[in-house]
Amino acid sequence: MNILKFQHEEDFAATGANLIASLLQSNPRAVLGLATGSSPIGVYAKLVEMHRKGMVSFARASSFNLDEYVGLPADHPQSYRSFMNEHLFSHIDIDPARTYIPSGNAADLDAECRAYDKLLEEQGPADLQILGIGSNGHIGFNEPDASLSSGTHVVDLLEETLEANARFFDRLEDVPRQAVTMGIGGILKAKQIVLLVRGEEKAEAVKQALQGPITTQCPASLLQSHPNVVVLLDEGAAKWLK
Ligand code: GLP
Repeated sequence: MNILKFQHEEDFAATGANLIASLLQSNPRAVLGLATGSSPIGVYAKLVEMHRKGMVSFARASSFNLDEYVGLPADHPQSYRSFMNEHLFSHIDIDPARTYIPSGNAADLDAECRAYDKLLEEQGPADLQILGIGSNGHIGFNEPDASLSSGTHVVDLLEETLEANARFFDRLEDVPRQAVTMGIGGILKAKQIVLLVRGEEKAEAVKQALQGPITTQCPASLLQSHPNVVVLLDEGAAKWLK
């Protein structure tokens, strides 16, 4: 693993954005694996800025997002589709028809999961997968458990995840209790993984993920088994690393 620590948010964001921009320069048809959460926001803002300056084009790229809440229509302000539109897709030249996000509002969620895996099989894997980490070590919405699923599936969110994500909703009760998420197998198929983490509240999860035992109780620890992972951390997130 290549672990990089940043003092300034600006450098953190520019480094993440440059990894994506250089991939697109060498491979304009790149498949991007994208994530939501507060950690990648600066990276997306930087990419939008680079696009406006003519430094990067997404015109021939495609993207797969990790996850989506169950029960929120795509146009709900807290859906991950809305998040991606707001922070990235609406400001760049990517073809909206090639920005894939699982639907959390499908009548048959199991069929939706299988269809998403089929799309990934046909068009993936991601050349570069952006990831965040939950304070409990989740990646995508793969929560700590005795075993983990390989493919896209519906997951019951843990109480700590509902609480962590309540900040985006009016009330804790409004946070959807389930999500559709790509599985660990799908995530680990990416050719390169870029883990972005900001904030001291993630320091323990980062330490467990990068330097603890590989265990399904910390899903991000499985990244240790991937041959090409770059980790970008701010000082808070890196606090407990040896
Ligand atoms: C949500 C997403 C995760 C993301 C996590 C961390 O739970 N489903 O994919 O990694 O948030 O988000 P943040 O970057 O805001 O800490």
